[in-house]
Amino acid sequence: MEEKYYSLLNYGCQMNESDTEHYAGQLEELGYKAIADFHDADVIIVNTCCVRESAEKKIAGKIGELKAVKTKNPELVICVAGCMAQKDGDKLIKKHPHVDLLLGTAYVNDFKQILLDYLAERGNKRRTRVYDDLTIHQSEFEGKMVRQSKFEAWIPIMYGCNNFCTYCIVPYVRGRERSRSMENIVAEIEAAVADGYKEFTLLGQNVNSYGKDFGEKDAFAKLLRRVNEIPGVDRIHYMTSHPRDMSEEVIKAVAECEHICENFHVPFQSGSTEILRRMNRGYSREKYLELIALIRKYVPNCTITTDIIVGFPGETEEDFEDTLNLVKEVGFDAAFTFIYSKRSGTPAAKMDNQVPLDVKKARLNRLMEAQNINSLKCNEKLIGQVVEVLAEGPSKNKDVWNGRTRTGKLVLWPLEGKTYQAGDKVYVKIDTAQTWLLKGKAVDNG
Ligand code: SAH
Ligand code: SF4
Ligand code: F3S
Repeated sequence: MEEKYYSLLNYGCQMNESDTEHYAGQLEELGYKAIADFHDADVIIVNTCCVRESAEKKIAGKIGELKAVKTKNPELVICVAGCMAQKDGDKLIKKHPHVDLLLGTAYVNDFKQILLDYLAERGNKRRTRVYDDLTIHQSEFEGKMVRQSKFEAWIPIMYGCNNFCTYCIVPYVRGRERSRSMENIVAEIEAAVADGYKEFTLLGQNVNSYGKDFGEKDAFAKLLRRVNEIPGVDRIHYMTSHPRDMSEEVIKAVAECEHICENFHVPFQSGSTEILRRMNRGYSREKYLELIALIRKYVPNCTITTDIIVGFPGETEEDFEDTLNLVKEVGFDAAFTFIYSKRSGTPAAKMDNQVPLDVKKARLNRLMEAQNINSLKCNEKLIGQVVEVLAEGPSKNKDVWNGRTRTGKLVLWPLEGKTYQAGDKVYVKIDTAQTWLLKGKAVDNG
């Protein structure tokens, strides 16, 4: 049989990366092989994101680029999947008629059958198909899985979001919260351990709501403790936590379970209580600071990271300074900072007093400057310490390897004649700290 190839173009968050790995698994079950250059592929999936306008523009450009590839090879199947597909549906097909399949976010695990059905429609009869019902029951994934990393696995524990933060498109394109069963999650992790995986990230838009749809209390803390007991699991991460829903039980689980990594990613979005109210976040600046204090009480050596939006409609200079002060006060290890992007269909898009782009950009720069100082300070504290690193691979300079600490910090160290495999545990004594990375030398078990 003639060899068939697939190419995957992924955009967006870890949930999309995970979905893309599910697509890869299904394509390989059908006998397709991965190929890096999409010009030579028989099936291309573009897995899209629409959280900000900048992402959408870039992706729309890429989809446009595929038209020429399709003209050259009319048998090529182009599939646009993910959040932008979910949001735009038929509109996207009108703009890009060379797209064959449009796959909303609830169809990830049905892709194999959808592709087979499509290929069965021979010749000219093949028509563009749109699958964008968000209310269908999402199938559990049971087939082959092709993960990017050989030791680190994404594990979706829930889909969707019920929060409706007023700036955010995600609830509209991912639907309501649906949790996977604990048995299913544990089975997937056990299977991955058997394949050599040791680092796991439990994924959901709001992991602290895990299990609420089954009516169970503290289900996320219970899940964390259960995963911690699976033999062979070395590191557990989870994202994302909503500050309103992060419970003491979860913090205790992190404090008490050896394998749950001591990083807390708790997006605060804005330091102004008034802006938080208009964002529909459900907590105040004071409540957020109380949560940080509680985290530090239970896990004093933890790292804390966050997401921040500048330029939400109506954000005054004073509101912004509240954000800046909160960043300085907490001293985050890292922050993902975003300029507010108007998403049509969300309540914030209709709010008055949209902030001009130049003001938003200036605020972002000031914020990043403040955060860079924090990041450097946090990293400098590690100088002289021995940190546990899972090796990832060689850096640009082949004589230097890189890997991550339990808290996700990037570490570089010279090979000095040694050889490593991805996933090896290495102890590195840190001698240099920069804003984005640490450097040191490998030492015997610290
Ligand atoms: N569910 C997660 C992640 C959501 S998307 C959470 O609640 O934290 C990741 C980040 O993108 C958000 O935390 C927010 O900071 C940012 N974001 C979401 N919508 C945005 C918008 N319209 N403009 C700018 N940033 C946005
Ligand atoms: Fe968006 Fe808020 Fe849900 Fe996060 S919690 S995905 S920011 S609506
Ligand atoms: Fe983007 Fe969808 Fe994730 S909008 S951030 S890919 S949930």
